[in-house]
Amino acid sequence: TPFLIVAIDGGAASGKSSSSRTLSERFNLLHVDTGSYYRAVTAEMLRQNVRADDPAAVHAALARLALGTRVDGRSAVMTLGDRAAGDEIRSREVNDHVSHFAAIPELRAALLTYQRSQADVARAHGFRGLVMEGRDIGSVIFPDADFRFFLHADQVERARRRAQEGQQDSIAERDRLDSSRKASPLTCPAGATSIDTTHLTLAEVVDRMAAAIATKL
Ligand code: C5P
Repeated sequence: TPFLIVAIDGGAASGKSSSSRTLSERFNLLHVDTGSYYRAVTAEMLRQNVRADDPAAVHAALARLALGTRVDGRSAVMTLGDRAAGDEIRSREVNDHVSHFAAIPELRAALLTYQRSQADVARAHGFRGLVMEGRDIGSVIFPDADFRFFLHADQVERARRRAQEGQQDSIAERDRLDSSRKASPLTCPAGATSIDTTHLTLAEVVDRMAAAIATKL
């Protein structure tokens, strides 16, 4: 069977994580949450007191990063040296800084190579393919993915979902920064399947995507 790549993009709390996790189980795909990668690198920069508005310091820190991957169940987890990214990547501080680091072209370039290499990780671990979620997966990382979905939901509903998760997160501000940046902004790529999840349950979102995938398998 050919290796399958499913790309899921969307704003904060659009339903990407839950749906990609479920699809990973249904189709035996490695689940890759690229937001967790931007978060892990941001946490590391903060740990080193590197600021997003100091390009030279970001450059130097990037050159020292030793990025690796650990597979935890069905999910890929970024490792930095001998440490795996943990709960600290969901902290308030990381929420507030991640979009500023994610706007730096050089940082995105480093993660682009790393993210593409996740296909090899999936193969090495015997997965049938991968489902990767983020902001620029269908547009930049895997524009030739077998399936590309773009999820969106109205702002009130997304804020409600995030609050339900107990997270303090400025999703409106992150979406504004992510959509307006010059380097691979958040946008629905041409040819992707756009799904409005505002009034859909998780099961309904997953069923739509799974139905689309199943017709071509
Ligand atoms: O998906 P999540 O909300 O955890 O992503 C955190 C942040 O990482 C986003 O707000 C965005 O700034 C950045 N990101 C990105 N490109 C991706 C995934 C995440 O710029 N592919």
